[in-house]
Amino acid sequence: MSPRPLVVHVTGARPNFPKAAPVIEALREHEVEQLLVHTGQHYDDRMSQVFFTELGLPRPDVDLGIGSGTHATQTAAAMIGLEEVLTQRRPALVVVYGDVNSTVAATLVASKLHLPVAHVEAGLRSFDRSMPEEINRMVTDRISDVLLATCADAVDNLLAEGVDPAAVHLVGNPMIDTLLRHRTRLDQGRARSEAGLGDDDPYVLATLHRPGNVDDREHARSAVATLHRVAEHCPVVLPLHPRSRPRLIDVGLLEHPQVRAVDPLGYLDFLSLVEGSSVVVTDSGGVQEETTVLGVPCLTLRPNTERPVTISHGTNALTTHADLPDAVATRLRAGRPAPGSTPVPPLWDGRSGPRIARVLAGTLGVA
Ligand code: UD1
Ligand code: UDP
Repeated sequence: MSPRPLVVHVTGARPNFPKAAPVIEALREHEVEQLLVHTGQHYDDRMSQVFFTELGLPRPDVDLGIGSGTHATQTAAAMIGLEEVLTQRRPALVVVYGDVNSTVAATLVASKLHLPVAHVEAGLRSFDRSMPEEINRMVTDRISDVLLATCADAVDNLLAEGVDPAAVHLVGNPMIDTLLRHRTRLDQGRARSEAGLGDDDPYVLATLHRPGNVDDREHARSAVATLHRVAEHCPVVLPLHPRSRPRLIDVGLLEHPQVRAVDPLGYLDFLSLVEGSSVVVTDSGGVQEETTVLGVPCLTLRPNTERPVTISHGTNALTTHADLPDAVATRLRAGRPAPGSTPVPPLWDGRSGPRIARVLAGTLGVA
């Protein structure tokens, strides 16, 4: 009997973990061996370990421990570590997720070792090359062999770039598999009390970590000023990404008594607070998608989004620092939409992991 082909999954940062979990689980039903590599791009327990515990991910077989650094330092460290692992193991397929530096590092290394690459979440485009993620997405898609798209506009983007249509598969959103699977474990009461909120208090949940909002001192000051104006309406709970913490605190975030800054939250606590909030304010990619499925109004503090489907088929709207307070006030007055009354993109149905696994098994020629 020939040995089962080896699939290597490469993850590294917080948003990778809820995308990888359903794919790894679904692939167990197929005749493949699996190896999980964690680059260590994110390493704090609250940015990494908590997801392994809560989502039932297997412990990484390899942890490269690359840590933080400039883009070049971090990407290069991941490439050096991955080259060694992939050269030794010679997998039949490498699976990469999303748009972080670990994603593009793995794709570059695997391609040059002539190993096929499957990209989960292919084809998203903000058309804004000032975002490092946009560069990562373009490079990753250009040299990946199997392109797994979450939504129809991502397929259109890939075809417009001249990709072979046979390489593109519309499979839906595995991050939403994870959300739907764990939804019954969300506990709004506990999350509210840990955040110091009463049972019925309306609140805004905010997350900010895009360099465009937090790196530059003046932009950070402007973001904090707008959050303070929002906090005039109701408490703002802000789980602070480690990138943002020093800068936002330095420019006065905590000076408003209604701003509750907390450490990054575990997956279940975070989504419990999302589910219970009146409005979410964010610059996160994944949070735009999760609010869409939970039917929570989302205001994205960015000039563009690579996830326009969350606007056309969801609860999301783009806004600016200047417009955010009024946009929040309008949504607070309107109240939360009735459950099930907001649209959800096609195939965001909790079954993307098995769809992806079938495509990958087909690529490998196994049952
Ligand atoms: C990265 C991704 C971004 C993604 C985000 C998810 C890239 C280019 N960016 O951004 O697309 O939205 O993850 O959260 O890959 N830090 C810690 N502890 C950690 C991790 C980071 O303290 O566990 C701090 C370090 O000071 C580090 C900074 O956060 O320098 C930024 O981390 P990094 O991984 O470079 O980028 P993110 O902003 O997290
Ligand atoms: N998330 C979390 N705790 C937090 C903030 C976010 O568990 O304090 C989850 C969120 O629900 C989503 C993922 O992290 O599943 C999104 O990661 P992030 O916003 O860091 O990255 P992006 O999606 O912007 O790349």
